[in-house]
Amino acid sequence: MQMLDIVHRRRREGKDTIMLCAGQPTTGAPGAVLEAAEASLHASTLGYTEVVGDRDLRETVASWHSSTYGVETSADNVVITTGSSGGFVASFLAVLDHGDTVALSCPGYPAYRNILESLGARVVDLVCDESTRFQPTAAMLDALPVEDKPKAVIVTSPGNPSGTIIDPAELERIARWCEDNGAVLISDEDYHGMSFGRPLATARQFSDRAIVVGTLSKYYSMTGWRIGWLILPDELLTPVENLQASLALCAPAISQVAGRAAFSAAARAELDGHITHYAAARRALLEELPKIGFTRFAEPDGGLYFWLDVSDVTDDSEAWCHELVDAIGVAFAPGIDFDPVHGHQWVRLSLCAPEDQTREACRRLGAYLGR
Ligand SMILES: Cc1ncc(COP(=O)(O)O)c(C=O)c1O
Repeated sequence: MQMLDIVHRRRREGKDTIMLCAGQPTTGAPGAVLEAAEASLHASTLGYTEVVGDRDLRETVASWHSSTYGVETSADNVVITTGSSGGFVASFLAVLDHGDTVALSCPGYPAYRNILESLGARVVDLVCDESTRFQPTAAMLDALPVEDKPKAVIVTSPGNPSGTIIDPAELERIARWCEDNGAVLISDEDYHGMSFGRPLATARQFSDRAIVVGTLSKYYSMTGWRIGWLILPDELLTPVENLQASLALCAPAISQVAGRAAFSAAARAELDGHITHYAAARRALLEELPKIGFTRFAEPDGGLYFWLDVSDVTDDSEAWCHELVDAIGVAFAPGIDFDPVHGHQWVRLSLCAPEDQTREACRRLGAYLGR
């Protein structure tokens, strides 16, 4: 977010800057959502919705989830939250006690760790590299010493920052491990819909004890509308509803009403078009980075990111990102945010910029490094 501030400041000062640091689509909400939002302004009072969310939206999410993955998901198990971020807070509070251990992949999305630590949970890192395509495995969970056995396991597929997708068979093994070991599997499926070809499974295909987390922020291109959802096992419905009643009252009403239109055929056709732009940016990075000497990275299967090893040019990714934005007007996200162990030698690039800007960023980087 600091890099984002720098980019905005530079742009205000008229300095040309290519933004490869942000984790959000540059596109807006689909047209069908905008029309529904306009209509809803006049059609209802937009007061509080039900605490667990507008029934129609819950039905829509449930039927999308059922038909996409061939599972039976009931609207009764869906809770609408203020972005998936709101869902994490509610589900962590519902599942964990102070001092409980949670296993996370490293590298991973930094907010899990920040929220968990602020709630007094203990984080155990599942250190991942290319040998498992930067994703955790059931074998890693098995290998944890007894004092680190987790109460919950969080998986993210497609990953942030890696963009890699967990193989459905491995997700099944992780789900089985969690059931066998009394741990709650929390599956962050925020980047579903964004695959460049690999199959994406939902954790609910393998366990109805798992918590599935979803959002309108990524594939649906509606970050600021703040709508996410949890698909919960029966035993967590009342605790989460009670927590939601105190934490949020409800997610934004206009976004809930209009958000339903994001699942329509017209909206999906528009949204699928965005994936071709991310795929083009991915291809540009896969072609250009090796030419300038960067050959170690996580090859993204989906999502919005490209995780790149920069250890031959820096040991301090944060300082290096600041240096680059000043020197060549290219903004990357420092890896240290995502990986406290090795992240000082990695950066995260975003696939959201247009292909020509992505290639230009690589050209500037190569010229700066004399390569
Ligand atoms: C892996 C992951 N999970 C959750 C979120 C939070 O998204 P939101 O609260 O907008 O749904 C993000 C945002 O970047 C993310 O990358």
